[in-house]
Amino acid sequence: MNSASKPLLHIRELNKSYGDLHVLKNIDLAIWPGEVIAIIGASGSGKSTFLRCLNVMEMPQSCFMDFADFSFDFREGARARPDVQQLQQLRTQIGMVFQSYHLWPHMTVLENVIEAPVRVKKMPRKAAIEQADALLTRVGMYAKRDSYPAKLSGGQQQRVAIARALAMKPQLMLFDEATSALDPEMVGEVLSLIATLAEEGMTMLLVTHEIAFAREVSNRVLFFDQGVIAEDGPPEELLVKPQSARLQQFLRRILHEDIIASQENSR
Ligand SMILES: Nc1ncnc2c1ncn2[C@@H]1O[C@H](COP(=O)(O)OP(=O)(O)OP(=O)(O)O)[C@@H](O)[C@H]1O
Ligand SMILES: [Mg+2]
Repeated sequence: MNSASKPLLHIRELNKSYGDLHVLKNIDLAIWPGEVIAIIGASGSGKSTFLRCLNVMEMPQSCFMDFADFSFDFREGARARPDVQQLQQLRTQIGMVFQSYHLWPHMTVLENVIEAPVRVKKMPRKAAIEQADALLTRVGMYAKRDSYPAKLSGGQQQRVAIARALAMKPQLMLFDEATSALDPEMVGEVLSLIATLAEEGMTMLLVTHEIAFAREVSNRVLFFDQGVIAEDGPPEELLVKPQSARLQQFLRRILHEDIIASQENSR
């Protein structure tokens, strides 16, 4: 299915605990260039923790990670444990977009998008502005480049947050429920932007409760259950003909919640 000779990201034996709570249990996963992977699973199953470990906002207790040209061993005391500078490099190459947009409120849209390229990547300001203008045009936010985040709708803020992540030229994008804090009428504009990125070949992992969207945009689905990847396969199999009782039960519940939400919205 994939012509690349090696995965973009390969992790093995990823374990993450908070105190006695073993949240991620020995996870192995290879992600190939261009894959669009939807992650589904019940609340508390470890989806957000998993994404946060991938872009090393959280340090796992163990993880062998091959990413692009890096090869790390995260165990305490390991010789190949990433240092501070390598962690920062990893974070710039793995972009993340959250449920709440986390834009800097005291900066304009343009300043939000150029901040990290200028500060972290030491990109000349003029080049960063040119790049930001192109990205803002692409996400349909150029007209608001001099506005402050508080003046924007949720959907607009999220599109700026996506432009800000893309400004670092990441090789992998992680989306953690990027639409779940949005009003229903804003969801579509953000989903269609994500779908465009997928079509353009961006490798991405998306935690989502939008099952119809996951089916449309992803070519692989992971079902998280109690800290393990319980199922891994194409959307037509997992989302249309789920085999395990737990996945069937999960999908039934999500579908039920969607129906209730759409009834409430139409009131
Ligand atoms: N910083 C933390 N300290 C302690 N426990 C945490 C922390 N972050 C997450 N947890 C716990 O880890 C487990 C997994 O949480 P996580 O946020 O990854 O779940 P999730 O699958 O993203 O859930 P949701 O669908 O509700 O977002 C939960 O039991 C949660 O309480
Ligand atoms: Mg979560």
